[in-house]
Amino acid sequence: MKDGTAQGVAKARDYEALWSPQQRLFYDPYARYMYPGATFQALMGKSLIRGLYNLLGPGILEMLLIRTKWLDEEVLKYAPSMKNMILLGAGYDTRGFRLALPRKDFQVWEVDQPKVQQSKVTKLERVAKKDATVAELKDSYVQFVAVDFNHDSLDEKLRERDDFQPNRPSLILLEGVTQYIPKTATAETLQKLKSLVAPGSIILMSYVDQRVFDAPEQVGPIRSIQSLLKLAAKVGEPWISGWTEPDFKEFMDKLGFDVLENTTCKDYNVAYMRPLGREMTPAKMTSAERFVTARLRGE
Ligand SMILES: C[S@@+](CC[C@H](N)C(=O)[O-])C[C@H]1O[C@@H](n2cnc3c(N)ncnc32)[C@H](O)[C@@H]1O
Repeated sequence: MKDGTAQGVAKARDYEALWSPQQRLFYDPYARYMYPGATFQALMGKSLIRGLYNLLGPGILEMLLIRTKWLDEEVLKYAPSMKNMILLGAGYDTRGFRLALPRKDFQVWEVDQPKVQQSKVTKLERVAKKDATVAELKDSYVQFVAVDFNHDSLDEKLRERDDFQPNRPSLILLEGVTQYIPKTATAETLQKLKSLVAPGSIILMSYVDQRVFDAPEQVGPIRSIQSLLKLAAKVGEPWISGWTEPDFKEFMDKLGFDVLENTTCKDYNVAYMRPLGREMTPAKMTSAERFVTARLRGE
């Protein structure tokens, strides 16, 4: 099973829990159950952990943390006007359980490869034994649909579910996924998705800046970019897809989506990190990934 990168994100999110409530960007109480070695990480403490991440490459950890924070904020902004939240390549994302989302007439759908999803469900079953929120929401408010974007049809798999209501305004998340699949698979998945949601639906997604492959020095410390590429390949999930900003806009436009925001962690350093006393030196930041909000146009 290839869930190394999903575990890596959970581990980074769990690091954030080591900060005090006044100094943390967000709090994910479930991340610790999603990867092995959480107790050890807690014992190491945040300075040592940050030191180890910095050895790997400056700014890698913060890129993941700011991505999570930015997406949390966007989710909370748009969810009240939506009816479904569909997490594509959900991995160990726990937003369906940890964020203050609408409960009435709102449903969370987690979509991921069968084996990774089964591993998450097993983990959540253990968490549910001691956590009332997970026990209440799992398999009712938060539903699970196994889909391999490279082989399965997203719309067929969702439509097979009696309780999935199509054509409703929906919030779609595609976080940390597009780099692992061919662009054609992303395009097909978004194309299929269009028949499942209403115009005006919002997609929140990340993608890898093409310069990671072509001009890495322009998107962060070279060691950080090399480490990201090496690590992903090492766990069997190499980064294979990237876009330039204009190409991405065109890609989304052809699929019927208007890009509303296309940003990076650098743009949120001051807004997010400064008030917490954790502002980064811009030269040490890694902007390998870009974060996007896009809206599905009407017919
Ligand atoms: C880096 S993880 C990100 C997980 C989650 N979105 C997050 O940010 O915590 C990448 C996710 O993409 C999923 N993924 C990769 N290739 C996939 C495919 N062909 N079909 C479905 N999911 C896929 C993996 O299973 C994994 O959960």
